[in-house]
Amino acid sequence: MVTQGSFSAVTQLHRRLQDARANTDRLFQIVREDALYGRPIPERHRIIFYVGHLEAFDWNLFRERLLSLRSFSSGFDQLFAFGIDPVGGELPSDQPEEWPSVVEVRNYVQIVRSRIDNALETGLVALEARSSASLAETLLQVAIEHRLMHAETLAYMLHQLPYSRKNMQHQPAVQAGPVENEFVDIPSGEVTLGLSRKDSSPFGWDNEFEATTERVAAFRISKYMVTNGEFLRFLQAGGYENSEYWSPEDWQWKEKQAIRHPIFWEPSGPGWLYRGMFEELPLALNWPVYVSHAEASAYARWAKASLPTEAQWQRASYGTHLKCERPYAWGTVAPNPTLGNFDFTRWDPAPVNGFPANKSAFGVVGQLGNGWEWTSTPFAPFPGFQPFEFYPGYSANFFDGRHFAMKGGSARTAACMLRRSFRNWFQPHYQYVYAGFRCVSQ
Ligand SMILES: [Fe+2]
Repeated sequence: MVTQGSFSAVTQLHRRLQDARANTDRLFQIVREDALYGRPIPERHRIIFYVGHLEAFDWNLFRERLLSLRSFSSGFDQLFAFGIDPVGGELPSDQPEEWPSVVEVRNYVQIVRSRIDNALETGLVALEARSSASLAETLLQVAIEHRLMHAETLAYMLHQLPYSRKNMQHQPAVQAGPVENEFVDIPSGEVTLGLSRKDSSPFGWDNEFEATTERVAAFRISKYMVTNGEFLRFLQAGGYENSEYWSPEDWQWKEKQAIRHPIFWEPSGPGWLYRGMFEELPLALNWPVYVSHAEASAYARWAKASLPTEAQWQRASYGTHLKCERPYAWGTVAPNPTLGNFDFTRWDPAPVNGFPANKSAFGVVGQLGNGWEWTSTPFAPFPGFQPFEFYPGYSANFFDGRHFAMKGGSARTAACMLRRSFRNWFQPHYQYVYAGFRCVSQ
């Protein structure tokens, strides 16, 4: 039975889904109409796919499991069902004319939304008959977070669109002085990874379960994310030309792609510009550098350091000098705009020292927001992992040793995904993510 309390939980989640739709609608408004069939990142689908995908995902998830609704366009349900993540270098080759018109796709979006909304608002008989309240809540959470995750990965994609094909948006600037990075001592201790199924804790994806603890030896970690200024020294020291800093696989990739600098940097005379979301800017030396895992690992080798493991990153962020761990790096206060660069306030990075209150118990600054942070840990299940029955490949398709766990969050990460257990992952040669790193030394 669906109780009164769970009705209101479903209603609240439905509102959050509508807010998330407004978020992605605003995002697509950035794209000028003539660019909707473009493919700003060669490894990904054309933009038009994502316009349809966000609705097809919700529709395919809810239609039969939750709402007893019939498909009205099975071709679109399938066409827009899945994104792509090619790891072998093969690129999609479809042509714009193979995709439906914008009018058809937008029409599909409107019908899906109105049918889902009507069913959730008035069709709870079906919900009551077919589903437990907890399944309804879980599926709604999945739809909300799936959409919010796309709001972030779509920002990476739109970042690569030429400026002439985007409508500019305002973003508040953050000013801060020069940065001297240093290492911070982290004492040994136990760290919790993941969420316990026993907790009545917030929603978590399959890869966040089961909770597990790990003992971490003492180590030292960069106080701030590695900055553009620090990375510039690596580049000027010949870091991109010296194979000894790169694994053979990473070197081969870098040579084949002729990569000579971070993808967000643009050579300009003797110096560099930063390719921001809406305009080119002078390279801010106190912003975190955004690079692939391969480039981050090369820098770390050059600096005679390493990337943190997932457990080390977690310990540095949430650990304390006592046994307890903090819910957020800075303490117990819920995320808000004074604490960091996250939750869609900005598009571009902020100085690493721009939010001094975003500080862990050990004095590590800025671990939540302003750029995901690569770890050296391949993305893998925690003991007790069980895939969602309704989305079996969400994580399991990526437990292949070819993706690395990332923690933290970026300017385009929703506040709900700043929870301690949330994990992100990407392949090591994907340069478009808003991701940087810290160094660790023993
Ligand atoms: Fe998706």
